[in-house]
Parts: sequence; C-alpha cells; structure tokens
Amino acid sequence: MRGNDFAQHGATGIQVCVIGAGYVGLTIAAGLASLGHTVICTDTSESRIRRLRLGRVPFLEEGLPDVVTEMQAMERLTFSSSNISAAADADFVFLCVPTPPKAGGAADLRHVLDVANQIGPFLKPGAVVVTKSTVPVGTGDLVAGRLSRTDIAVVANPEFLAEGTALRDFFRPDRIVIGSNSLQAANAVASLYSGLECDVIVTDIRTAELIKYASNAYLATRLSFINSLADLCEAAGADIRDVARGMGSDRRIGPAFLRPGPGWGGSCFPKDTRALIRIAADHGVDLPLVRSAVQINNDRKSAMVRRILTEIPDGHPQPTIAMWGLTYKAGTDDLRDSPAVAMVNDLLAAGAAVQVFDPTQHERIDGVVICHDMYTACQGAHVLVVATEWPQFADADLSLVRKIMAGQVVVDTRNLLNAAAVHSAGLRYRGVGVPSKVSDAARLLETVREPLAVMSS
Ligand code: UGA
Repeated sequence: MRGNDFAQHGATGIQVCVIGAGYVGLTIAAGLASLGHTVICTDTSESRIRRLRLGRVPFLEEGLPDVVTEMQAMERLTFSSSNISAAADADFVFLCVPTPPKAGGAADLRHVLDVANQIGPFLKPGAVVVTKSTVPVGTGDLVAGRLSRTDIAVVANPEFLAEGTALRDFFRPDRIVIGSNSLQAANAVASLYSGLECDVIVTDIRTAELIKYASNAYLATRLSFINSLADLCEAAGADIRDVARGMGSDRRIGPAFLRPGPGWGGSCFPKDTRALIRIAADHGVDLPLVRSAVQINNDRKSAMVRRILTEIPDGHPQPTIAMWGLTYKAGTDDLRDSPAVAMVNDLLAAGAAVQVFDPTQHERIDGVVICHDMYTACQGAHVLVVATEWPQFADADLSLVRKIMAGQVVVDTRNLLNAAAVHSAGLRYRGVGVPSKVSDAARLLETVREPLAVMSS
C-alpha cells in the first residue's frame, strides 16, 4: 500500500501537533497531513527526529515511509523535538505517548500527564487537546487538571490502528470514537476526519476511553475462546478452520479474529487486558471473563512449548529447534510480548538449541542463533516450528526442508502450511485444532466442504 493509494485532500489551514512519533503518533501525523492539515510531530528522541526528517521510519509499517516522505515534500508534515514550541501554534494537540504497564498492570500515565503539565501554559486560547494513547477511564479529567486551563477542551479519540495495517486502518476506519464533555470540541475533532467515510460515535469522555479497552479486551477474549476450541477440536477429531468458518458465517459473529494461534501478543492486547482488569477492580468490579482470557493466553504459550518438546526424539541430549518467525504477528518487526519470543525462552530453559529465521530480525539475541534464511534455520533441526504467519513460509521448498532437518516434525502454530504438502515431503504435520493425519483432513473435506459447495452452486 502506498500513500497515493489514498486520495489526498486540499490544504485546510488547520494546525495540528502530534506528540509522540511511535507507531500510533507517526501514523496519525501522516494520516492527518494527507487529509490536508498542517502537522508537526514531536518526539523526545533527537535521533529519531533526524531520521524522520530524512524520511526514515524507525519501524516496519507498510506504506508509512512513502506517506511521510510525500507529506514532508508537500510541507504538510514537519518534525520537532520541542513539545512546547510545536504545541504553542497548534489548534489541536494529539497526545500519542506510551502508556506502559506498571507492576500491578495499571497503565502508567506519567508520560501523558508530564506532557500535559509541560504544554499547558503555552497552548493558544481555545486549542483542543486530544488523547489518542490508550488511557484508563478518568484520564481526560486528569489531563484537564494538569493543563489547568479553562479555555482548553480535552477530547478522547482512541485509536484502532493495528500494526502492519495502520495506514489502511487510519484511512478506512470502521468507526471514529470521540468523547468530550464539550460538544463543540467533539465536533471540531470530528471535522478533522471529514475526508473519511465511517460512523462517528460522539459520546462522553469516560465512555470513549472505555470503548478502546472494551474493544481490545473483547478481541483478546474471542481469541482465547477460539484457541480453547482448537484444543477441543484436536481432542474430538474436528477441524477448527471449519468450525471458525461455520461460526464466522453467522453475521452476528463475523469471520475476523477466529484464527487460532500460539496466543495473542503485541504491545496492546496483553497490556490493555491487564489494565482493564485493574481499572475494573479499582471500581469494585470483577471481570472474570477477561481474567480467564488472560490466563488461557498465558497457558497457551507453555502448552505450545510442551507440544514441541513431545515431538523431540526420545532422550536427545540437546535437541535443536528451528523456528520460523519471531515477531508477534506478520507485517511488523515488533517483538513486544511476542508468543514466539516466549516460546524461544522456554525452549532454551528446557535445554534446546534454537535457530530462528524471521524476515525482520537480524540482530543478535542472547542464546539464539539468528539465521539469514529459513533453510539455514532448519539445518540439523529435530522439530520445525512455524511461529509467525509470514506468507513466504507457506511457499517453502519442503523437500529441501526434509533433507536438511535431522527430525521430521513440523509444529505449525499458525496453521499456515499446507498439511498435505508437508506430508508429501516426508514430514509429519501438527497444526493447531486440525486433524494431524492427512487422511482425517481428507475425510473432513469430503464430508463438510462438498455439501457446502453443492449448496452454494
Ligand atoms: C490491536 C487492535 O487490533 C487494534 O485495533 C488496536 O488499535 C491496537 O491493538 C492498539 O490497541 O493499539 P495489534 O496489537 O497491532 O492491534 O494487532 P492485532 O492484529 O490485533 O493482533 C493482536 C494479536 O492477536 C496478535 O498476536 C495476532 O497474532 C493475534 N491474532 C489475531 C490471532 O492469533 N488470531 C487472529 O485471528 C487475529
């Protein structure tokens, strides 16, 4: 996807300051610039700002470098390391700084509140401060308190950008959520997005803050549900892919987020589920469903490691595991809370040697052999684990893999490979929630897929 895949809009004359040039801030800055606003994006890291001025985006996000470069060339997007001077001229200031978890799971608001303290006295009269960072219920009021300005409205406008598809999610959102105690400020923020077609939900600030956590916690819960069902499918001889297809065809359920895997990860779901549990507890409310989703997810990673270890030939003193993929999902170079990283650590602790190939990872990682191609990672391996759903793994030369591996088992935690092709290469296939024997899969295809095909013809 390139920047010019999206219609660019004429200049609006509106000045926007985006504080924080991470995944969220940079996408928002580039997106708002494309919508015609004049955007200045800040970051405390001078070196990041220097690189961004040269169009170098410090993380993998499809299409973003093109849009950043284009918007800079059009003088719609500039970068600064000074929050105060950047915010002083802005009609809107977006707070896109991190809210990392504290020890008990609560979101650490230090960066958000520090910035509010810092910029408060310098904002121009009538400016609007917009919280984009995922923040607990009540943060809008805290920000207003820190700004200490009766003429400045605070608006919650949570982001729903997934890494890897962030630009697409910006330009084609399912909805825009705007929460404020000032309808005028809410409408002003809504008008910033007037080039986009989607529902705009205007509500109070606390509700908007909660919508973000509710959405992430629901998606995470849905994934824990499907991962548990995958276990049941394995035990009962059913196929989770068809269970998901059957469920997802119900319009009330929908097909997205029903792919089982090694557990959900990334910088958002793990942090936000824990924070939501904590927010609820602070209000005297228990959320057992979300607690279970978190527990199931924690157990999931160890269950995958147990599965891998059971495939190691008996009594092998130091087994070698090949791992394809290290990022928490495909399309990103982000390792934060990656199930693959958790599995590597557990495998190392169990005495295995681990050889990893991931298209985005080239740096040394303690105790791990980082390989430069997927076949080198398989050299002498007893088990091959597919940990991330990078599409190129599905096109691998499996006969070559068979030749260079010492063992014969492929544990595919993403159901990415074609089981029949793995079997014909002389390897044994273990997916998640799918029959492990090709004959079982073939039986299911005959009995389930054919009647569906007949019905739809
Ligand atoms: C998530 C949300 O999808 C965004 O809407 C939200 O804005 C973002 O968090 C955030 O709060 O900033 P992200 O963490 O980038 O985005 O990634 P997702 O695509 O949601 O995937 C999360 C995890 O679920 C990954 O580990 C992924 O592998 C896993 N997943 C996803 C599955 O295991 N199966 C699926 O079917 C879908």
